[in-house]
Amino acid sequence: MSTREIPMVDLRAQFATIEKEVRQAIDEVLTTQIFILGPQLEAFEREMAQYCGRRLAIGVASGTDALTLALRACGVGSGDEVILPAFTFLATAGAVIAAGARPVFADSDPKTLNIDPESVRVLVTQRTKAVIAVHLYGGAAEMNALLELASRRGLVLIEDNAQSLGASLSGKKLGSFGTCAATSFYPSKNLGAYGDAGMILTDNDEVAERVARLRNHGQTGRYIGAEPGCNSRLDEIQAVVLRVKARYLDRWIAARRSHAARYKQRFTNVNAIRTPSDEPNSVHSYYLYTVQIASERGLGDNPAVRRDHVARHLASRGIASSIFYPLPLHLQPAYASLGGKAGQLPVAERAAHEVLSLPLYPEMTTEQVDRVADSVIEVL
Ligand SMILES: Cc1ncc(COP(=O)(O)O)c(C=O)c1O
Repeated sequence: MSTREIPMVDLRAQFATIEKEVRQAIDEVLTTQIFILGPQLEAFEREMAQYCGRRLAIGVASGTDALTLALRACGVGSGDEVILPAFTFLATAGAVIAAGARPVFADSDPKTLNIDPESVRVLVTQRTKAVIAVHLYGGAAEMNALLELASRRGLVLIEDNAQSLGASLSGKKLGSFGTCAATSFYPSKNLGAYGDAGMILTDNDEVAERVARLRNHGQTGRYIGAEPGCNSRLDEIQAVVLRVKARYLDRWIAARRSHAARYKQRFTNVNAIRTPSDEPNSVHSYYLYTVQIASERGLGDNPAVRRDHVARHLASRGIASSIFYPLPLHLQPAYASLGGKAGQLPVAERAAHEVLSLPLYPEMTTEQVDRVADSVIEVL
């Protein structure tokens, strides 16, 4: 990569700051030759539960598995409906299908782009068993309203914490609100493994026990299967890497927040840009720095034309940008059989045309943030 180019994330720059510790830690695992369900995972589970303000944590093979096993352990299965935001990553809905249930897509709040509790309220039926609140980009969903609704209607509330590890709301870590939370340690996440990994966080002993069983072929004892399970274990090498990196997580989030503040300051007087909402009682983890670029009438039939123009301009300057997500789930080919129609979830659909994520990673320099901001401002 040329020094003039600015990527979305720079994992090599991060590795350079922790290389010695990581290599030493991996070496320890190699010396023990214990790779599956060993002491590193146990320690990491204890440390993450404590970090997130939960009693229990169970490591699994990915964030998607964490969601699927969380749903199954909460009793969600065939014939159940699960309400989730249409404006999220495919995995949130894929997990519902993998658990045997039916996804029902809700619209988003226009300010935070997180699931709109009012949209959830009108979708609840006799068959609704659970709601998944995704803390998109690292910013808190409206947990108070969702908790109130879940409790009133007897629903399980699961947090998809894949993008928001380390963020908080009213002084409580995200991931500590629902019946349980599922998080992802995909390499580019704020806390990323060197491969796939995920975790379920809960205070509920039964849910934790069941997830621990499901991730290991449903076994209650050696070769005794209490129920059909799967192989979804967070291995010792990933656990030890994550334990090293977890020591830096708060510092990395602080650096992200400082870059986000700089972007916000630079975009203050740019009318066409809406910067991410950082609610006063919450701490955003800025997994992604996602602005909304207002679509403009008279620019043609494509409502994303202005956003796409900005993205192309950035690319011409050697600056990466990305769209999370270009198509809401109710309009995805994978879910066509559920009958979603364009115009049904207007906030999610509009967001898909307007969002643009800009480079943001802890090792970025202020000069790089300014270069991105300058390039966005000059094209608008
Ligand atoms: C919101 C959301 N949910 C779920 C996942 C799935 O996590 P994983 O990639 O670890 O399976 C991701 C990760 O990309 C995500 O961003």
